[in-house]
Amino acid sequence: MNAQACLCFCSLVWLGFPSNAAVDFDRQIKPILEEKCYRCHDDEKVKGDLRLDSPEGILAGGKGGIVLVPGEPNESSLFILTTYPKDDPDYMPQKGEGLSKPEQNLLKAWIEKGASFGEGFVHDQNPRVRSKFAEADPDSVRKYMIMGDALEIVENLRASDLLVDTVNHDSSLFEVSYTHADRGPGEFELTSLAPLKESLKKLTLARTRITNEDLSSLSELASIEYLDLSRTEVDDHSLDFVSQMVNLRTLNLRDTKVTDEGLLKLANLKQLERVYVWGTLVTSTGATRLEKRIEGLAVKLGTSILPPNRGRSPQR
Ligand code: HEC
Repeated sequence: MNAQACLCFCSLVWLGFPSNAAVDFDRQIKPILEEKCYRCHDDEKVKGDLRLDSPEGILAGGKGGIVLVPGEPNESSLFILTTYPKDDPDYMPQKGEGLSKPEQNLLKAWIEKGASFGEGFVHDQNPRVRSKFAEADPDSVRKYMIMGDALEIVENLRASDLLVDTVNHDSSLFEVSYTHADRGPGEFELTSLAPLKESLKKLTLARTRITNEDLSSLSELASIEYLDLSRTEVDDHSLDFVSQMVNLRTLNLRDTKVTDEGLLKLANLKQLERVYVWGTLVTSTGATRLEKRIEGLAVKLGTSILPPNRGRSPQR
């Protein structure tokens, strides 16, 4: 896409976010977060690596990535999680009184209208659009070129329900999430991500119905550094596919069926820094065994917020 077409696209998207936002963050949204979320998401407690007590914190997101997509409430976990059934383990707030319907609607409307944090605030949320036109240094031009090529691919993936974003606002690196896409077993078509090539850094498959058959094409996505498979039916066999991802640094296997034996299949992933295994059948012996094989690796065994072994067979 040339710069002119991109500028045109830019202004189209811009029109989608009215500047006279009807919902006022300080007056209408902040008090809700303060009352119902701060106790776990402020400077004292940072649950899920997420702070909600400042615009910067909200924009930085949590350990699962961004939580706010301006204009897209249904892609914003900041909103979605407050609408889950109260007995869902991911429902927010995790304790205390939940958001009333009017509060939910307000939060939704605020995000829909562009999630402004006040007069003059400009979001960085569309880095693919708000690219580096103005900057002339060669580095940013190079990034923009990659971005231009990737734009169509990204649009196609988005059209098929996937959440695609840039990593740390770097317009040449992408993360893709299937978590809120409605895909059944056999419908993941991970190969559709292959055109992103080396630019694909993060892949989130948490809470999906992904199967080993779907995972078998992971080897084509070797650029991935962060993979979230938490709360899926993933088991030891799945790790045969994961073990081919030589650039992997962070792997979330929390609340899956993985055991010590499966974990050891990862021993050749020398880049691996963190593996989360809360709520799996992995023991501290198994965790240490893998840590000894990979320098600098930490296998995190913490406690799950789900009941132990929920939804998996107790034998072994
Ligand atoms: C009693 C504690 C508690 C309260 C209150 C709470 N949360 Fe959370 N929140 C958590 C925990 C614990 C996690 C991490 C869960 C996990 O890792 O699966 C979390 C994670 C999240 C995440 C996902 C972060 C990520 O990137 O993985 C979002 C979004 C979130 N909370 C939003 C909210 C909102 C919005 C409110 C207020 C309406 C709220 N939370 C109130 C405990 C709380």
